[in-house]
Amino acid sequence: MSSELRFDGKVTVVTGAGGGLGRAYALWFAERGSAVVVNDLGGSASGEGSGRAADVVVNEIKAKGGKAVADYNSVEEGDKIVQTAIDNFGRIDILVNNAGILRDKSVVNTSDNDWDLIHRVHLRGSFVTTRAAWPHFRKQNYGRIIMTSSVAGIYGNFGQSNYSAAKLGLLGLSNTLSIEGKKYNIHCNTIVPMAGSRLTKGILPPDMMEGMRPDLVAPVVLWLCHDSCADTGSVIEAAAGWVGKYRWERTKGMTLRESTNDPILPEAVRDNWEQISDFNNSLHPKGSEASMLLGKVLQDLMEKDANRAANLSPVEQALNW
Ligand code: NAI
Repeated sequence: MSSELRFDGKVTVVTGAGGGLGRAYALWFAERGSAVVVNDLGGSASGEGSGRAADVVVNEIKAKGGKAVADYNSVEEGDKIVQTAIDNFGRIDILVNNAGILRDKSVVNTSDNDWDLIHRVHLRGSFVTTRAAWPHFRKQNYGRIIMTSSVAGIYGNFGQSNYSAAKLGLLGLSNTLSIEGKKYNIHCNTIVPMAGSRLTKGILPPDMMEGMRPDLVAPVVLWLCHDSCADTGSVIEAAAGWVGKYRWERTKGMTLRESTNDPILPEAVRDNWEQISDFNNSLHPKGSEASMLLGKVLQDLMEKDANRAANLSPVEQALNW
């Protein structure tokens, strides 16, 4: 049998760990030897109030002989959460950005506050908490970060314009952090979970709530945060014991002009739409590869211009054709 994945000596911060997925992550990390900061503001599912849900999880961990401390700050003040890790355990190695709320409404009924609060908790909260952890990761040349996206973010979902925008924003954040962190051995990956929790109560049918237990997602997060996992910038979907990966796909596309002096017309876009949209022989660019491919398009056009100029007769050149 292969060796067990352990986290002895590591310090893990899990935000929103008072219930649902975060609780499962905290229990698994502690069980595998990590000290855990169990952060949770403890408010309602729509972000009102506060409470002490983190205490229950800390007691559960301690009862099993693990190390944990509760933290009740909002992720909007993520620097305080990271400070709790430093004050209690002297370091931070792993950060799981998991805290979340919902304010589901159709777009016209979404108030400024519904929009802002969702962005403040999910996107800004993950940003400020990660920014506070970053200098520690950089100094120790080690860090593992998880961002939490959602199927609603990747594909959209009726009534979740605020949530899906923030959740896809987290993927953008992860993409860039995986690039910025590479030379410091800081990895950032994104989990796209599905699980029965208070956020999905009333959305998932009761048998799915039961079958999609959060502890079936947690082992995936543990693997992504382990020293031996080389992935960074990956997007992993996990639910009910199934695990899969996402990647971007782009059609081969086509260049709609022959020279850098040519314009392109809307009619040319229309007339070539089938080929532009053809996913046969599609590409899967990663990171800066995508902009390099576009740079090559321009380079090809400039080469064509130069070849054409070189083949002009002296008369054509004099006429500046
Ligand atoms: P949950 O409601 O059980 O857990 C979220 C926790 O975050 C709660 O304990 C809550 O008190 C805490 N929290 C909320 N705002 C906070 C703040 N400002 N600061 C600190 N803690 C705060 O929900 P669940 O399902 O476990 O969600 C965890 C994450 O997974 C969320 O980011 C959610 O959007 C995401 N997710 C969940 C899915 C699911 O199927 N359950 C699907 C896709 C994404």
